[in-house]
Amino acid sequence: MSHTCRIELDGKSHDFPVVEGVENELAIDISVLRDRTGYITLDDGYGNTGSCTSAITYIDGDKGILRYRGIPIEQLAAHSSFVETAWLVIWGRLPTQDELSQFSSMLTRNEMMHESLRSHFQGFPPNAHPMAILSAMINAMSCYEPEMMEIEDESTMVRAAARLISKVRTVAAASYKMSIGQPMAYPHPEYHYCENFLHMMFSIPYREYIPTPEVTRALNLFLILHADHEQNCSTSTVRMVASSRANMFASCAAGVCALWGPLHGGANVAVIEMLDFIRNSGMNVAEYVSRVKARDSRLRLMGFGHRVYKNFDPRSKILKAAADEMLETLHVNDPLLDIARELEEVALKDSYFVERKLYPNVDFYSGIILRAMGIPLNMFTVMFAMGRMPGWIANWKEIHDDPKGRIYRPRQIYTGSPLQDYTPIEKR
Ligand code: ACO
Repeated sequence: MSHTCRIELDGKSHDFPVVEGVENELAIDISVLRDRTGYITLDDGYGNTGSCTSAITYIDGDKGILRYRGIPIEQLAAHSSFVETAWLVIWGRLPTQDELSQFSSMLTRNEMMHESLRSHFQGFPPNAHPMAILSAMINAMSCYEPEMMEIEDESTMVRAAARLISKVRTVAAASYKMSIGQPMAYPHPEYHYCENFLHMMFSIPYREYIPTPEVTRALNLFLILHADHEQNCSTSTVRMVASSRANMFASCAAGVCALWGPLHGGANVAVIEMLDFIRNSGMNVAEYVSRVKARDSRLRLMGFGHRVYKNFDPRSKILKAAADEMLETLHVNDPLLDIARELEEVALKDSYFVERKLYPNVDFYSGIILRAMGIPLNMFTVMFAMGRMPGWIANWKEIHDDPKGRIYRPRQIYTGSPLQDYTPIEKR
């Protein structure tokens, strides 16, 4: 379909092309609006703004659909591994067995941190937040990869992606070890991606941690479900930074910072804090929901609502089933899961949530799974960042590979003081 959109402004009409995506999503291309009319569009929070075209991830928020490179998330969750999904997200198709094996060995070869990078950890206070450490260390990593500051060919791209995906896991585990005053564990070359991370998190000298297959599977699932999610806050941040031609490490470090906030990746922590608060306060679920609805504070039902999904987030459905299964097989009884189930039940019947189309999002059940794996609360958002790394890299690559790419630079409508003269300090 090729059609145009006519806009009438000050008695003149202007035609703009309509762009159509492969799933029939429609957008009015207003890139020449200001040149032609002097007007810009204003869209607080970008709810109606397509910032780019992208071939990575497709979401239909009304139907609750999520696909990476066209493949439904449910199929990837059932059959894929995080490493395979990472390859798919970054390079656009499922890898062959050879490609997958080569990429896996690259991850193994790149799993160690440079020894002098380890000493950077001494500079952080013992209770430093692991998200602060993670973003600082990803940036610091770029100092050790001078040949990757400019990526001129595909083989450098593959090496850079492998380094980042592999080392982020080592840095993440090391930041946890630092925070609890334990020696960092070296990665184990015989272990696969998820096992290796769990080993570095939980092994101590002379006592090797061997994860059960259930725990490894749950981590694999968690990482797959977080691998990409189109133009969310952190991914848009990565693209924004990348558009200035900043290197992959700097761009992804910025993504970590954007992810940290409680309205984005930090929500997985906020959900557990909320469930804990409900349990400890002795308040019942209905009372808590009433407080959220009363809006006398900025209280929100954390893990509910989404800018794009106006239906169930497909990831939350998968995680809910996985949480049930995992707790049963590990014989873990988590009272927070019962509160979460009850909250979901109450909210889904309540007109406040129904009218606003607020459904559980990915963070609502992910924390329960992470808790059952023994991951401490302050590492939850770090886990999200590890999972999102392929998506950030793929989006960075899309910007990098676009020869016509322009720097991202939104405009604004100024609402500050009109023209005024400078007043010397003695006259103020
Ligand atoms: N609890 C209570 N009310 C809510 C919630 C919530 N979780 N989410 C939205 N609302 C209400 C808003 O108050 C608003 O009501 P109003 O129209 O009467 O003013 C309406 O629903 C629309 O909300 P917005 O804030 O405009 O929605 P927006 O798209 O900007 O925000 C967001 C989306 C940030 C995710 C929001 O739903 C929220 O804060 N959720 C809780 C935090 C959370 O779980 N974040 C994780 C998101 S997923 C992720 O980033 C991985």
